[in-house]
Amino acid sequence: MKLISAHPLKGTIHVPADKSISHRSIMFGAISHGKTTIKNFLRGEDCYSTLEAFKQLGVPITDDGDTISVTGVGVDGLSQPSEALDLGNSGTTIRLIMGILAKQPFETVLYGDEYLNKRPMNRVMLPLNQMNAHLTGHENSEYPPIHIAANDRLTPITYHMPVASAQVKSAILFAALQAQGETIIIEKEPTRNHTEEMIRQFGGTIDTNGKEIRVSGPQSLVGQDVTVPGDISSAAFFLVAGAIVPDSEIVLKNVGINPTRTGILDVLEKMKADVVISEIDEANQSATITVKTSNLTSTTIDGDIIPRLIDEIPIIALLATQATGTTVIKNAEELKVKETNRIDATAEELTALGADITPTEDGLIINGPTNLHGGIVSSRGDHRIGMMLQIAALLTDEVVDMEKSDAVSVSYPAFFEDVTRLTEGENK
Ligand code: S3P
Repeated sequence: MKLISAHPLKGTIHVPADKSISHRSIMFGAISHGKTTIKNFLRGEDCYSTLEAFKQLGVPITDDGDTISVTGVGVDGLSQPSEALDLGNSGTTIRLIMGILAKQPFETVLYGDEYLNKRPMNRVMLPLNQMNAHLTGHENSEYPPIHIAANDRLTPITYHMPVASAQVKSAILFAALQAQGETIIIEKEPTRNHTEEMIRQFGGTIDTNGKEIRVSGPQSLVGQDVTVPGDISSAAFFLVAGAIVPDSEIVLKNVGINPTRTGILDVLEKMKADVVISEIDEANQSATITVKTSNLTSTTIDGDIIPRLIDEIPIIALLATQATGTTVIKNAEELKVKETNRIDATAEELTALGADITPTEDGLIINGPTNLHGGIVSSRGDHRIGMMLQIAALLTDEVVDMEKSDAVSVSYPAFFEDVTRLTEGENK
């Protein structure tokens, strides 16, 4: 597909709903008792993988096009699916559902697409198996299809997490809610806390103190009305576009600003981007963010900010190509095991467009500013690489042709339409 080329972006957009919260709202709704309603659910492929999986697990879920209604069956009320669960591209679904299915009176098999089936699962299977679950990968590997044996008992653990991963933490938390006694998780670095917040929202109890989390089981949760805020990880593409595309000004409405997710805003500030946050809605953890074309300076991004912007690193790398100086991104080795190896994908695809960017063992080194040019690129099947490359294409009037552009549907099906709308100065 030929990407949209050089054009200022002007106007107002509502970015799609938060992917992490959309997944969890189905999961918590399913394992609670009573009705859960979900407004502004993310209608992207990943979240439909979660929705369909819980339907197959016997949870009544209806969709009137506006609100999704989940009739909670309780974690003990799930039933055996008639076939293996196909979770598509969704790492969040496969990893979190392992914690939910770790104690069921039936066996399940989980698998996904060619990308998901290559992603590491030991990080979740090892702690769950320490809790007396019985999870195994395909032919003694750690890769899907994952088999989960029937199991009637989970025991609590104290677990020092070897990776900074909200997916791993969340899987353990879902299991801990079903285990007899107190589970203690000590995080490597703080990661997104949506699961902890939703345990409280759905009437459960959990203690969090810095990197230490304590949860006692078994607990019974109660259905809630959820309104999902916009996804800052989707907003990130327009936050960066607004800052780097000449003569741009974009207003992003209803962007989620949970502090465990706002590393991108800290980076934009450090790089001296012209960003204004207004209309903060404390209850819904959302705000309006306005960004204008900016004179940017380089920075270093490392340490405990990394989990707060882990999904934004490809687009931050593009931002750095337009900043004066050398930007260094370190401690981001987790990028190698995302939908693609995002260190290599970001470096190689941006190099093809003329960027000065070098991959390292745990990050990227980017020299800027550079003039990007046209070329042939590929999303490599990774939604965030695809969206980043479309924003890069706005910096050149030469042709950028991208393979596998469909990948954006995983988290932002209307992405290209929203870019087009902003190039036409329209509001949405
Ligand atoms: C997610 C956590 C992150 C993130 C992913 C969604 C979640 O993964 O990259 O897109 O919803 O918990 P890790 O926690 O494995 O880093």
